[in-house]
Amino acid sequence: MKSISLLILGLSASLSAAAVPPPGADGKYTISAPGIRAQFIPFAAAITNLFVLDKNGIERDIILGHDSPSDYSADPGTHMGAIPGRYANRIGNAQFTLDGVTYHTPQNDGSNTLHSGPNGWGNRTFEVVAVSDNSITFGIHDPAFSTGMPGSIDANVTYTLTEKTWKIKIHALSPEARTPLMLTQHTYWNLDAFANPETDLIWNHTYYTPYSKRLLAPDPNMVPTGEITTIPQGDINDFWSAPKQLGTNLLTPGWVGNCGTGSGCEGYNNCWLVDKSPRIAKPVATLSSDWSGIKMEIYTGQAAVQLYSCYWMPGTTPIKSTQGGEGAAGNGLIKSGGCVALEAQDWNDGINHPEWGRNQFYGPGDDYNWEATYKFGLL
Ligand SMILES: *[C@@H]1O[C@H](CO)[C@@H](O)[C@H](O)[C@H]1NC(C)=O
Ligand SMILES: *[C@@H]1O[C@H](CO)[C@@H](O)[C@H](O)[C@H]1NC(C)=O
Ligand SMILES: *[C@@H]1O[C@H](CO)[C@@H](O)[C@H](O)[C@H]1NC(C)=O
Repeated sequence: MKSISLLILGLSASLSAAAVPPPGADGKYTISAPGIRAQFIPFAAAITNLFVLDKNGIERDIILGHDSPSDYSADPGTHMGAIPGRYANRIGNAQFTLDGVTYHTPQNDGSNTLHSGPNGWGNRTFEVVAVSDNSITFGIHDPAFSTGMPGSIDANVTYTLTEKTWKIKIHALSPEARTPLMLTQHTYWNLDAFANPETDLIWNHTYYTPYSKRLLAPDPNMVPTGEITTIPQGDINDFWSAPKQLGTNLLTPGWVGNCGTGSGCEGYNNCWLVDKSPRIAKPVATLSSDWSGIKMEIYTGQAAVQLYSCYWMPGTTPIKSTQGGEGAAGNGLIKSGGCVALEAQDWNDGINHPEWGRNQFYGPGDDYNWEATYKFGLL
C-alpha cells in the first residue's frame, strides 16, 4: 500500500510540475507581448524587469529590481516590484478594532505597522499557479494570525501582457473570518532606466493626476490623522491642475518634511485620493520622461494612489545589469530620488478610520478584486 501511495504522490508531483514550467536559467519567468516584455519571480509575486521601447527604439528596463532572485529575499523590506499584503502601507499604532475585538500587528515602522510587518506578503514566496507566453498567475495561502490579523486569506495575482500594456488582477477570499484586506502593486519606476547621462534621478519625470485634488493629511510619521486636505493649485502636492515635473518644488519651503516632519523626509510619500467616476475610462495617473520619451498611463478603479519618491533609498543597491549595472551613468547605485513608486490602493489605514466609511474588512462570502492597467507609449 505504502509503495502505491508513494507512486501516486510521485505522479501527481510530476503532473503539476509539467503544468507549470520551470523559470529560465536566470531564475525568472519571462512573458511578452508586442512592444513589451516582463520577468517575474515567486518571491513576493514580484516583477523584476519590464522592457519597453524608448523614443529611439532602444529597449529599456524601466523598473527597479535585482539581477538575482536571491537578492529579493535578502532585501524584502524594500518591496521592489512586490505585492505587499494582506494590508498595504501603515496601520496606525499597530492595532485595529474589529467587531469589538482589538488586534495587534507587528511594529516594524516606529510604533506602526508597515506592509503588514516582517511576515507580510512582501517577504513570502508565492506558488506559481499558471504560466503562458503572455501571462503568469501567483497564488498565496496566508494563514490566520500570520501577521496578527484573524482568518486565513487565499489570493491569486495575475499579470498579463498585451500590446504595450501590463495588466494586473488580484482576487482574494477570506473564507474563515472578517479581516483587513488592502492590496497594492509596489513597482518602483525610472522611465530613463538609469541611462540618462544628465541625471539618474526622477526629478525631471512629469506626473499628472487630474482626479486627485485631495490628500490624506499625515501625522509626523505618515500615518493619516483622519483629516482630508484639499490641495490648492500651485501647492507642492498639486499634480492635478497641470502635469508637473516631480522635482519642481525641490527648493520650495515645506519640501523637507512633506513626506514626514518626524523624519525630515524630502519629497513625496503621500496618499492622494482619486475622485473619479469609474465610468470615466481615463488614466488616474500619467508618468513620463522627456529624455526617454516613455509615457505610462495608469488605469485603476482603486480609490487612492500613494506616490513615493524614494527618499529612503540609501545609495548602496546596484542597478540591474540590464540597466548598465555598477559604473553606469551616475555611479550605478540607486540613490535617494532615483525612483518613484506609484501604489494604487484604498485609503491608508482606513481600518482605523470608520468615519471615512471605507470597506476594508472582508470575510466569508466577500470577493476582493484589485485591478490596474499600465499602458506604455511615447510622448
Ligand atoms: C523575512 O522573513 C524571515 C523569515 O522567513 C525573517 O527572518 C526576516 O527577518 C524577515 N525580513 C524582514 C525584513 O522583515
Ligand atoms: C486561484 O487560482 C486557482 C487555479 O485557477 C483556483 O483553483 C483558485 O480558486 C483561485 N483562488 C482565488 C482566491 O481566486
Ligand atoms: C530638471 O529638474 C530640475 C529640478 O527641478 C530643473 O531645474 C531643470 O530645469 C529640469 N530640466 C529639464 C530639462 O527639464
